[in-house]
Amino acid sequence: MSDSKDEQKMEVLSGEEKLLLDHDYDGIKELDHVLPRWWLGIFWATIIFSAWYVGYYMSGYGPTPKQELEIALAQIEVNKTKAASSSQGGNEEAVLLAAFKNPEKLKHGNEVYAGKCLACHGDKGQGVVGPNLTDDFWIHGKGTLKDVAKVVADGIPDKGMPPWAQLLTPDELIDVVAFVHSLHGTNPPGAKSAQGEKQESKD
Ligand code: HEC
Repeated sequence: MSDSKDEQKMEVLSGEEKLLLDHDYDGIKELDHVLPRWWLGIFWATIIFSAWYVGYYMSGYGPTPKQELEIALAQIEVNKTKAASSSQGGNEEAVLLAAFKNPEKLKHGNEVYAGKCLACHGDKGQGVVGPNLTDDFWIHGKGTLKDVAKVVADGIPDKGMPPWAQLLTPDELIDVVAFVHSLHGTNPPGAKSAQGEKQESKD
């Protein structure tokens, strides 16, 4: 950090004399070097970007932050429906119907039911805190596989039915819905009285 050494370095090199500007600030002179290309590139890029930004967002063409939030929330809804519809990537109804016709899947659904749903809907689906799942009466939807899948996935949080989409794997969700569907018309003893609208009997 010796000053004398730095001063020596400040000498104008022989090839640079023509770059020397003619002003002089207390002995400090300036060389008129061409700006590096990378620097100029970034400089112009920021100007172009700001022009685009102002044009896009301030003219009302681009989304406002509130609209961006709404778009993101709508995307979450789409993803939730997809996750509930199955990991197997198939059409939701076909996947549910296939599970409904597969005794192995129904058995698995019964296990899930016994672990997660029995306390509120009864061991035979006859209803306890939650409604009877075996009759023709449904509060939410018409009791089709798809309707039941939606209620089970999203829940009815204000009425005490938890949303299961995040708590069950897609397979567990499909199988338990298929199992619930298989309880239809079983007419278990001690069934809770009808709640909701009567739907024409399925299967
Ligand atoms: C904490 C108690 C509770 C648990 C656990 C629970 N439910 Fe429910 N469930 C309810 C209540 C309460 C309702 C009625 C909501 C209403 O009145 O809108 C309901 C409604 C439903 C409905 C719609 C019934 C209709 O008539 O529309 C279905 C289907 C259902 N539950 C299936 C399930 C399944 C499958 C599980 C297990 C994965 C489960 N529930 C676990 C409390 C529960």
